[in-house]
Amino acid sequence: MNNTNQCPIGVFDSGVGGLTNVRALMERLPMENIVYFGDTARVPYGTKSRATIETFSMQIVDFLLEHDVKALVIACNTIAATAGQRIRQKAGNMPVLDVISAGAQAALATTRNNKIGIIATNTTVNSNAYARAIHSQNSATLVRTQAAPLLVPLVEEGWLDHEVTRLTVREYLKPLLVDNIDTLVLGCTHFPLLKPLIGQEAPGVALVDSAITTAEATAQALSAAGLLNSENPAPDCRFYVSDIPLRFRTIGERFLGRSMEQIEMVTLG
Ligand code: DGL
Repeated sequence: MNNTNQCPIGVFDSGVGGLTNVRALMERLPMENIVYFGDTARVPYGTKSRATIETFSMQIVDFLLEHDVKALVIACNTIAATAGQRIRQKAGNMPVLDVISAGAQAALATTRNNKIGIIATNTTVNSNAYARAIHSQNSATLVRTQAAPLLVPLVEEGWLDHEVTRLTVREYLKPLLVDNIDTLVLGCTHFPLLKPLIGQEAPGVALVDSAITTAEATAQALSAAGLLNSENPAPDCRFYVSDIPLRFRTIGERFLGRSMEQIEMVTLG
């Protein structure tokens, strides 16, 4: 193992949602150090333009590169959909993983009838990134996308099993179920928290949790690059945000499933 193996993985998102990815990474790669950036001052990204998201994303990547990360994980579907290519150009040879590539791959491996549904933010849906990623591997697959923006604040409110959330999910899923999808990609950082409820509203449909599939893809990429950290029994996990961390901590601990020790506020740009 050389020094680079000890370097952290840089994970980033528009806010708190990417912590679902951190949680999956901690479970899959328990010896890795992690630096997380959540752009809490400028969230949501899901309603912003490509140009704005690209500018913000480049600032975040610069910040993470200053922290000597050995790999980047784009935890935010909206960032992956709009700025993924530019981030990869900037990162050079460094492994860059993202929720859309991993989610599309997992959906293709899961579907039996070749009909895949995607729920995501408006910007992710408008970018067509999931359909492109799926069709680049199998052009015969039916891909149905549905913007589900109301689910983001409902999850942040902690209404994971609330009647309002159930009715909202039901409404969003209607057109996808009419098309007889057998696989549904949870194409937004917040949606894995709704897995039980979505499962009840879409019986018989396989749910793809991009956080888990991205953690698996990260493990494989680090292993292939000889970058796994295998001697780190007390990993370091640091969280950076762009606004006062109070709300980030409260909501974040729900997303992460554990307490957060080191949260710091920084200003970008
Ligand atoms: N993190 C975003 C995503 O996965 C959801 C929140 C936002 O709109 O910024 O698309």
